[in-house]
Order: sequence, then structure tokens, then C-alpha cells
Amino acid sequence: MKHSNIINHPQFTREGRPVAFSPNILNKVQSLMNRYPEGGQKSALLPVLHIAQEELGGYLSVDVMDYVAALLGIQPIEVYEVATFYSMFYLDKMGKYVIEVCRTGPCAISGGEQILAHLQDVLEIQPGETTPDGVFTLKEVECLGSCGTGPVMQVNTEYYEKLTPGKVDRLLEELREYANKNKPGDSTWVKKFC
Ligand code: FES
Repeated sequence: MKHSNIINHPQFTREGRPVAFSPNILNKVQSLMNRYPEGGQKSALLPVLHIAQEELGGYLSVDVMDYVAALLGIQPIEVYEVATFYSMFYLDKMGKYVIEVCRTGPCAISGGEQILAHLQDVLEIQPGETTPDGVFTLKEVECLGSCGTGPVMQVNTEYYEKLTPGKVDRLLEELREYANKNKPGDSTWVKKFC
């Protein structure tokens, strides 16, 4: 299904700040929209929001959400509703690595609370905060769907299971080392790692 062409869609600006995908990314968004019938372009919203988060600064500002709404031809409120519902979408600037610790029952009783406390001690931040160097953001989340291998945490797109404080320390060291080689402003800074 062909939707109206968005390749030459103007930059979206609010308070003088331009927001726009590159032509390559616009092509990708167009092909996602074309999977759905006219009037059904909202169905492409989730993948487009993932792309927007990755390509436009690592989080979904109001400007970015409004731009996505304009591209898809839907109301901004329809984008806000989705972006604020799912914990994988960030509404504020995050650290390079977003550490999400499961706080639901099975993980909590298998050591999740200690893992969270350990991270708070080592990183010297509370859930919802980012380290001053911008490397780590710490979050508490509900069940990550891997209850049999708790305690579990997710770092960006990767799962880490059967955690111990020692495992956490080794991982933090590895991530810090990687972050030191990739400074803010580098193209890899807000990219997912694997
Ligand atoms: S309870 Fe932690 S992953 Fe389900």
C-alpha cells in the first residue's frame, strides 16, 4: 500500500529547533508505513518510535514525538499515549547504558534487591538518575520475562541473568571501558551495543 510520499517532508521545528530524519531513514519509515492500508499508518508507530529514539538523540522529546505524528499523519496525543506507556521508550535524556533492574517478586526474592542496592552503591545514583559522566542510567522495572533466571537486569537491549554483585562489577567495568573509547558526540554514543 502506497501512502503519500514523506521523503521530502519538511523538518519539524518547535522553538527554532529542527527535527528531521535523514533521507535514508525517511525511506525506511516510508516502507514501514506502506505495509498498512491508507488510514492505518498508526500501525507503524511502534517501529517508527524505536527508530526515532535511536536516530534522534536517544530519547523521545516532545519535538521528536510531534515530528513522528506529523510524518504518520496522526495526532500528537496518539504518539504521547504510546510513548508514555512502554518503558522501553525514554522521555528524557538517558545515559549511554540504561540499566533496568527487575523488581518483581521472583527476582526480588532471588537477590534482585541486593543487586539494585549494589548498583546504587557502586554508581552512586538512585533509580531514575544518570551518572554525572552520562554513562549509566539506573531504572527499576517490572518483570522482564525471565523469572526463572533471576535476578535479572537489562542493559540497553541485552539481558544479564543469575546476577551476583561480582558479575555486575565485571560488567560495569567492561561497559566503562567501552564508553571511554566512544565519547558523547561519536556516532556510537547513543547506539545500542551488543
Ligand atoms: S520476575 Fe524478574 S524477570 Fe520476571
